[in-house]
Parts: sequence; structure tokens; C-alpha cells
Amino acid sequence: MSSTHDFPTLTVVSHPLVQHKLTLMRDKNTQPIHFRQLLKEIAMLIGYEVTRDLPLSSEPIETPVAPMNAPVLAEPITIVSILRAGLGMADGLRELIPSAREGHIGLWRDPETKQPHEYFIKLPSEVGRVILVDPMLATGGSAAHAVDVLLKRGVAREEIRLVTLVSAPEGMKTFAAAHPSVPVYTAALDEKLDDKAYIVPGLGDAGDRIFGTL
Ligand code: URA
Repeated sequence: MSSTHDFPTLTVVSHPLVQHKLTLMRDKNTQPIHFRQLLKEIAMLIGYEVTRDLPLSSEPIETPVAPMNAPVLAEPITIVSILRAGLGMADGLRELIPSAREGHIGLWRDPETKQPHEYFIKLPSEVGRVILVDPMLATGGSAAHAVDVLLKRGVAREEIRLVTLVSAPEGMKTFAAAHPSVPVYTAALDEKLDDKAYIVPGLGDAGDRIFGTL
């Protein structure tokens, strides 16, 4: 599942379908309609891995043949999108887990101080397991701050998972330093950031490519 790297909390989902779809997404000629569809499909495939350890409880039901105690998810699941690109990944996870609740965290970065500021936060009152989504883990600042927001709102640290599409080593380092026990799932750990904080080779601006704002 995980290729070799220096980050113990990082799982790179190296499934061939994920890698093939990611290549199509990276291609600069892929148009938003296909980019969105591929992002949704990859989010579902990563979602399968990130939900692997969800706790189950047992409920009595009756099949057409016999009564039985059957496994059901033991706690609520909340998908939290970091705006705006996170919305594209939430689409796939919502399809995979239709009973999930959803939250949103909007952050902007002060160009002078480089500090993230919150402009929108809405979370369900009871969140259970939180799957935090943001396709590009670039500097790591927004994802680390989003986890701080969740913790401040009373979410248990051990309930949080971060799902990204492409991650930079710099971002992963920053995120792991801030939240060393929060697991991260990604489709690729790329080479580096460029001087504009774009991931190299990456796929460009994920938000622009999802929403066609190029
Ligand atoms: N955000 C993006 O959308 N792309 C990058 O490469 C870095 C941050």
C-alpha cells in the first residue's frame, strides 16, 4: 500500500487504478469535467483505505431467511472539506459514505504574515470520525491549521484522518511536525515545492482545474 518514504504517518495509496487516474489528472490537457470525475473516483478509492479501521457494532436484523446480529458502523462519520478544492474530493467520499455528515473550513492566507485565517467554519454538532480533505498538501499550513480548528471545536485527535491527492515532502513535514499522530492518506508524494509553493510535478492549481477558473 505504502511506497518507501520518511513519514511514518503517511500512507501512499499505490493501487494501480489510483495511479492511472492520477496520471490522467496531472495531464494539463485534461478538462475540468474529466478532472472532477477522476478526483471523485480517486477519493472513493482512497476512501476505501481510510475507512478500513472504522469501528463496527452489532445490530439485530432479520434477513428474509433468519434473524441475525449484523455489523453496522459504530460512530458517525464527518467529511470536512478545506475550501475550496476539498469540495472536489468530498464528492467521492459522499458517494462512498452516503450517511456521512459534512463540515467546511474556509481559510485565507495573509500574504504578508503567511498565516492562515478562518473565514468560514461550519461543523455538525456530533462529528465522530473526521475525514479532512484537501487535494494538495503543499506547504501544509492550511491542513495543519484545519486540524487545529477541529481540535479547538472538541474533535478528538485520534478521530482525525487527512486525505490528500498529491503531497509535497515540505507540506508533509510541516503537517507531521504539527500533528504527529494524525494519519495522512495520499495518492502521491511528489518531489518538491517550487518558489511559488506549487507542487512539482503536481497538477497545477487543483481548485482552478476542478471549477474551471483557469
Ligand atoms: N495548491 C494547488 O492547488 N496546487 C499546488 O501545486 C499547490 C497548492
